[in-house]
Amino acid sequence: MEKKNLDWANLGFAYQKTDKRFVANYTKASGKWDDGALTDDDKIVMSECAGVLQYSQSVFEGLKAYTTKDGHIVCFRPDLNAQRMYDSAKRLEMPPFPVDRFVQAVKDVVKADDAWVPPYGTGATLYIRPYMFGISPVIGVKPADDYQFRILTTPVGPYFKGGAKPIYVRVSDYDRAAPHGTGNIKAGLNYAMSLHAIVKAHQEGFAENIYLDAATRTKVEETGGANILFVDRDGKLVVPKSDSILPSITRRSLVYVAEHYLGLTVDERPVYWKEVLDNDFVECGLCGTAAVISPIGKINDHGKDIEFESGMEKMGPVMTKLRETLLGIQEGEIEAPEGWICHIE
Ligand code: PLP
Ligand code: COI
Repeated sequence: MEKKNLDWANLGFAYQKTDKRFVANYTKASGKWDDGALTDDDKIVMSECAGVLQYSQSVFEGLKAYTTKDGHIVCFRPDLNAQRMYDSAKRLEMPPFPVDRFVQAVKDVVKADDAWVPPYGTGATLYIRPYMFGISPVIGVKPADDYQFRILTTPVGPYFKGGAKPIYVRVSDYDRAAPHGTGNIKAGLNYAMSLHAIVKAHQEGFAENIYLDAATRTKVEETGGANILFVDRDGKLVVPKSDSILPSITRRSLVYVAEHYLGLTVDERPVYWKEVLDNDFVECGLCGTAAVISPIGKINDHGKDIEFESGMEKMGPVMTKLRETLLGIQEGEIEAPEGWICHIE
């Protein structure tokens, strides 16, 4: 495989078409997913009345493949993405795609697109986007009969410009997820409803929105595309807990890294906005596949700035250690816990 001639180190987080993608179809008539196949065709033809177009019946995942220091192509914990997509599909009355087949399809598509996997040390990765949607027509509000599952890949650089430089975010007046709603699954509809809020935030100079819990607006939930972490004055990692945030694989991995590699105490609990206002935390960051760990330097609450002691210049010491250790594990420089690294080539 000869690598594509891209300016790997300067890629943004944007889509570009690669050579191969995976497609499988489910029909109600057969009651099962077909074998699926890799294809060159990036176009989808569907009914004008497809369930995804009318009632947003779609779920997705996001994970990355990258090159390790010793030249292997790997991805990180794809079984957890497979399980989360399984859970998301069930919540939207879609036929779940089997976990083992999901992992195999990820391996197959990355192998087929190996020329697009960025070389080690460039800071870029191959972003993998599995997704599933209702493809048959529905006009009354009900689940579609037929579904398509696809996996596309695209090479990406950092999600936030400047990589690990602290970002300035704000508390949003919009809500992201209702109690007992769909905040804990990865459904396209959760992102559609965040678009107005993110466009406005960007226009007003903020990199992201922090959402509070919709019921009481007193607790920190997450941002539009990442979970949030705090470090308190005792050096403890404080992780917001809520039934309406996405169970981030990066966050779950970081909690393990904090406890088992760094010897930190981790407190997973509801986090009150008042604690942030009272300056109880010295560091704050976002975590997710796309974001990895991005430090938050400052949060704006209706005109008032709350600046963390770590500041706007550089990432604080705990976030830095977490980031370095996780990246070290992912890139094969630090021994990974059993089952975390999935070898592709
Ligand atoms: N929260 C939201 C809303 C997300 O979209 C994502 C991205 O996937 C995350 C959190 C982080 O999850 P993960 O670490 O599994 O990528
Ligand atoms: C990811 O981190 O993989 C996501 O899906 C977040 C998305 C908003 C880019």
